[in-house]
Formats: sequence, C-alpha cells, structure tokens
Amino acid sequence: MLWIKALHIIFVASWFAGLFYLPRLFVNHAMVSDAATIAQFKLMERKLYRFMTPLGVLALLFGSWLWLGYGYTGVWLHIKLALVGVLVAYHLYCGHLVKVFATDANVRSHVFYRWFNEVPVLILFAVVLLVVLKPEFA
Ligand code: HEM
Repeated sequence: MLWIKALHIIFVASWFAGLFYLPRLFVNHAMVSDAATIAQFKLMERKLYRFMTPLGVLALLFGSWLWLGYGYTGVWLHIKLALVGVLVAYHLYCGHLVKVFATDANVRSHVFYRWFNEVPVLILFAVVLLVVLKPEFA
C-alpha cells in the first residue's frame, strides 16, 4: 500500500509540473508576435501536453487504487474527488487551448492566462490540506 501511495504522490507531482508550466507557456505565447518564437511555443505546448497527459492518468489510477483497494472514505475524500474533477476539466481545457494556439486563434491576453495559471495552485493547496488534515466538517 505504501508503494502505491508513493507512486501516487510521484505521479501527482510530475503531473503538476505540467499543469504549472503549460499555462506559463500560454502567458508568454500570448505576449509574442514573431513567427519563429510562436512556432517554438506551439511545439513546446504540444509536446508538454502529450507528456503530461499519461502522468495525470497514472496519478488518477494510483489514487483510485488507493481509494477502492484500501477502503478510504470520508467527507474529505468526497471533496477531494470533486476538486480532482475540476482539475481533470482544467487539464482537458488546457488541451483545447493548445489547439487554439496551434491555429493562431487565441484572442485572450497574457493577463487572462496569468489568472488561469493560479487555478491548479489553489486546487493543490486545497487537496493537500484535505488529504493530510482530513477535516470532519461535523
Ligand atoms: C482519482 C483521483 C484520486 C484519488 C481517488 C485519490 C485518492 C487518494 C487516497 C485514498 C490517498 C490516501 C490517503 C491517506 O493515506 O491518508 C491519497 C493520498 C494522497 N493524494 Fe490522492 N487521489 C486522487 C488524486 C489526487 C490528486 C489530483 C492530488 C493532488 C492534487 C492528490 C494528492 C494526494 C496526496 C498529496 C496524498 C498523500 C497524503 C498522505 O500521505 O498523507 N491525489 N489519494
């Protein structure tokens, strides 16, 4: 069980590296206008998204294994799962944005992406507090 938990944490940390970096690429991509730099950003975004997706899947698989295999339960877990749902939606939306940038169809400013970039930070804080403190809310 401890091996599964360790692998869960390793894949969560690796997935978050991508969830933090990809929106930073969007911030910079939204600020540049020369063709060579734009082409470079497109390549980096596509490669990063393709790399981080299996890491996210593995994080979720090992989390689900812990949850379903070892009888974890509680309000903290249900709130965590809801936040994980938001995180998955965020990940998929990042994939959509990779396509938007790839076709030069982005209309949003770097300021939008700076705020967008904060979403996984807030989710990480909330989830880590939930799994470590396991508040009862009763
Ligand atoms: C399908 C999604 C997920 C499920 C079912 C899941 C389930 C679990 C379970 C059952 C544990 C063991 C808790 C314990 O030992 O007390 C755990 C640990 C942990 N999870 Fe997840 N998890 C999921 C996704 C995530 C995500 C996305 C994050 C980060 C945002 C995350 C962060 C952590 C951390 C940091 C721990 C270690 C807590 C500790 O050892 O005290 N998990 N997870």
